Amino acid sequence: MMDIFQQPEEMQAWSKARFREGRTIALVPTMGFFHEGHLSLMRRAAELCDTVVVSLFVNPTQFGPNEDLDRYPRDFERDMDLVRKESVAAVFSPTPELMYGAGFQTEVRVARLSTYLCGASRPVHFAGVATVVTKLFNIVRPEAAVFGEKDFQQLAVIRRLVADLNIPVEIVGHPIVREADGLAMSSRNANLDPANRAAALSLSAALQLTRAEAARGVLATAELGRMVARHIHSFAGTAIDYASFVDGESLEEVETVDARTILALAVHVDGKAGKVRLIDNGFVLPR
Ligand code: PAF
Repeated sequence: MMDIFQQPEEMQAWSKARFREGRTIALVPTMGFFHEGHLSLMRRAAELCDTVVVSLFVNPTQFGPNEDLDRYPRDFERDMDLVRKESVAAVFSPTPELMYGAGFQTEVRVARLSTYLCGASRPVHFAGVATVVTKLFNIVRPEAAVFGEKDFQQLAVIRRLVADLNIPVEIVGHPIVREADGLAMSSRNANLDPANRAAALSLSAALQLTRAEAARGVLATAELGRMVARHIHSFAGTAIDYASFVDGESLEEVETVDARTILALAVHVDGKAGKVRLIDNGFVLPR
């Protein structure tokens, strides 16, 4: 039997009862519309602790005014069917009103890391993420929480958050899960136009091209960056938000690829109803 909670207080009381029984909770924070990537996070969580809780909340505060909050795919019943097949003990799915009641005015902000990459074009995004993740940690009280590496900046922000605020939650990153053709799995892929698949694939293809060039000894990121931009722009309707070579920990841009360098990509592609913003990333050199 899987429990489903909407009320933060009920979720908190349930977690407290599990804690008193000596159980340990691993949390998988999500915005729903599950795909294989989410399910793999749940399976990883089940390896870490004896009790898995999944939160499902499309958090409005991490979307800017002109972003896709209204278009973000949602299907609660389908999600519950999928999650019931996993070893998940409880789902926490509050409403925005329950999370941000009248008078709400607190914000958690990870200053520097939140300004790079996605933070440059999405100025409110990471404060929204850091605040809701702090709330989720306080409501669910997990020992561990699992996040996908597709959002690797989010992972860096959350690692900084728990370190800076001494939050006793182990943060576990889980590798990107890809479709057979290389597309990184994302709930937003539901808004892609199948006729425009090649454009969506330009991100993972650019990553592969970069790795091949680096293996040939091309390590200057200016040169690699020009190749990445040429490749992505060769598909109609693509607009690069960023294609940056950054240090995997500080997220600062680098001029020469080394073992820590990540190519981080965010690209708008034409979707079924307007543009879809896709992200992807990966180490340039083999690990
Ligand atoms: O990665 C996501 O789905 C969201 O940013 C998260 C971590 C659930 C916070 O809303």
